Amino acid sequence: KKTKEICTVVDQECIGTDIYSLWIQTEEIASEAVPGQFVSLYCKDQSKLLPRPISLCQIDREKGRLRLVYRVTGQGTGTEEFSRLQPGDTIPVLGPLGNGFPLGEAKGKKVLLMGGGIGIPPMLQTAKETEADVTAVLGYRDQLFLDKEFQDYGKVYVATEDGSAGTKGNVLDTVREEQLAADVIFACGPKPMLRAIKAYALEHQIPCWISMEERMACGVGACLGCVCQSTEVDDHSHVHNKRVCKDGPVFLSTEVEL
Ligand code: FAD
Ligand code: FES
Repeated sequence: KKTKEICTVVDQECIGTDIYSLWIQTEEIASEAVPGQFVSLYCKDQSKLLPRPISLCQIDREKGRLRLVYRVTGQGTGTEEFSRLQPGDTIPVLGPLGNGFPLGEAKGKKVLLMGGGIGIPPMLQTAKETEADVTAVLGYRDQLFLDKEFQDYGKVYVATEDGSAGTKGNVLDTVREEQLAADVIFACGPKPMLRAIKAYALEHQIPCWISMEERMACGVGACLGCVCQSTEVDDHSHVHNKRVCKDGPVFLSTEVEL
């Protein structure tokens, strides 16, 4: 059940260059939310009508709070507006939206959680709630964030493009270098990373779920602004499209074209 709620900012902290960690108080959304889902945040600036989709990084159901970790994408953007929010300020939020990772598929198994860049935040709550042998592989351009927080839930490896920490390269370079094995993969990150992970999972016959990022408008399945191509074809050779906001953002990797 999704709700549009006016949420109150509990805390906001800058945790890296242009990366912010925001805790908000909600009445309902936190109690309904599961890892891998997202919320849509509305801007005060009336020229910005569309809400901004941001994944749930942490869900504190007891206190009714959500943590969002996001990147400011530029000057005059909605995310820049969010970065100026102070404790006590309010913000309209719609959620929880989309599906989550199928945690049951990983229960009791060896699971590889892979996150790239701003795809890392949703993997934190996923790591926390997956009842499995968790190994997290986190890929960054250069600056690390959130990596220490994953250590509470399993082994953590990092990859950086510039080689300043961990493996020089991407998350799959780490998987190969460290010979990490898995029964199940959950991943979120940029499309080229997801494409490579999908190919790796196919090659090694590992079931793999990925969280996709697509531009969205309504965020609730009504406008078809966010469709991606699915691999399902009907009797008349018509490709069935999927809505990332409603049918996803998490998909079985073999279900979607990347
Ligand atoms: P503007 O340039 O002002 O945006 C203009 C419009 O384009 C807005 O409607 C905006 O929502 C849309 N847009 C621009 N870039 C993107 C994008 N990459 N994806 C979707 N819509 C976009 N970012 C994070 O930093 N942390 C997260 O946890 C996170 N989770 C996401 C989860 C989902 C399911 C999706 C679809 C996206 C997620 N993103 C996340 C990306 C985030 O939504 C965009 O960076 C953000 O909407 C950009 O808004 P803006 O105001 O900075 O940019
Ligand atoms: Fe409108 Fe997905 S954003 S259908």
